[in-house]
Amino acid sequence: MTSTPLVRAFSGVQPTGRLHLGNYLGAIKPWVEHQHARENLFCVVDLHALTVPEAIKSDELKARSRNVAAAFLAAGIDPSVSSLFIQSHVREHTELTWVLNCVTPLGWLERMTQFKSKSEGRETVGTGLLDYPVLMAADILLYDSQVVPVGEDQKQHIELARDVAVRFNHMFGETFVVPQPSIPLSGARVMGFDEPTVKMSKSIAESRPHHAVHLDDAPEKIRKSIMKSVTDAGCDYDPATASPGVVNLMHVLSAVSGEGIPSISNRYTGKGYGYLKQEVAEAVTAELAPVQDKYRRLLDEAGYLDQVLAQSTAKVRTLAEATMTRVRHAVGIG
Ligand code: TYM
Repeated sequence: MTSTPLVRAFSGVQPTGRLHLGNYLGAIKPWVEHQHARENLFCVVDLHALTVPEAIKSDELKARSRNVAAAFLAAGIDPSVSSLFIQSHVREHTELTWVLNCVTPLGWLERMTQFKSKSEGRETVGTGLLDYPVLMAADILLYDSQVVPVGEDQKQHIELARDVAVRFNHMFGETFVVPQPSIPLSGARVMGFDEPTVKMSKSIAESRPHHAVHLDDAPEKIRKSIMKSVTDAGCDYDPATASPGVVNLMHVLSAVSGEGIPSISNRYTGKGYGYLKQEVAEAVTAELAPVQDKYRRLLDEAGYLDQVLAQSTAKVRTLAEATMTRVRHAVGIG
């Protein structure tokens, strides 16, 4: 009997700041939930982090990358079914980026909403920031990835990766798999607890203590940020009309517990928002406690993490080399 090969998934997280609940619910938790049904590659994208130089000090980047890898394992990534590696350890990412640069029209990159928002108000903008989505396309296409599990904010970048793959295949013959995004129903766009009309973000969280819950926050801090979260003064739990802060809390609860939004909304009808906040605070604290515990243990016994990273890197390098051989042949280099 022949078994059908598993769908291959690739995703990544930048080591630019402390990981928050949005990273966890939008990406890492869904990776863990689906990992046994897929072949997985999870990457700490340190080359992407170089596009925000002020967020990084060179002596810190290596440590941050290892910490993010430890957080993947702590959250439940199982190295027996998932490869876990650091982007810069596989040189083919940069080589493929150059080749893809040469087939990507500039206008496609200038239209990216993240490029527009990240470059806004800056005196100078590094070319790397503009090129960021091509490096991301290279990450995905290098491994013939079929699905890319991410939060909603990455959807446009994955559409670009698809367009680049189609264009390359058209110009040079079938070379790349055209990937699909996979975005969770709840948790795809966790909003800031102190300002629920903006996406929870690592950079905002650096200057505003109750914007985000971080994966390594103490339980009291998690409770405080959620109890202080901004809602209105009413008691509306209808997802179509409730205030953004209430909708955000319901989505967080749904993503953590698996309970559907209609059921949460029904349970709370007629009750004050304080009860919802209380339940969300308890659910998030309980969800993160074992992750935090494992994270601390992994950093204490670093040998295991290094061993997982080395084994995964060796495995994914073989895949990357095979793709690059195909690509070099297709374009006539090497
Ligand atoms: P990054 O590091 O910004 O975010 C990592 C993952 O977390 C998700 N995310 C969120 N999900 C829900 N609510 C939020 N508030 C929230 N904030 C972040 C992101 O959607 C992402 O899935 N460009 C990527 C990294 C990357 C990548 C890749 C991803 C590089 N190459 C290839 C997939 C495939 C990024 O900046 O993620």
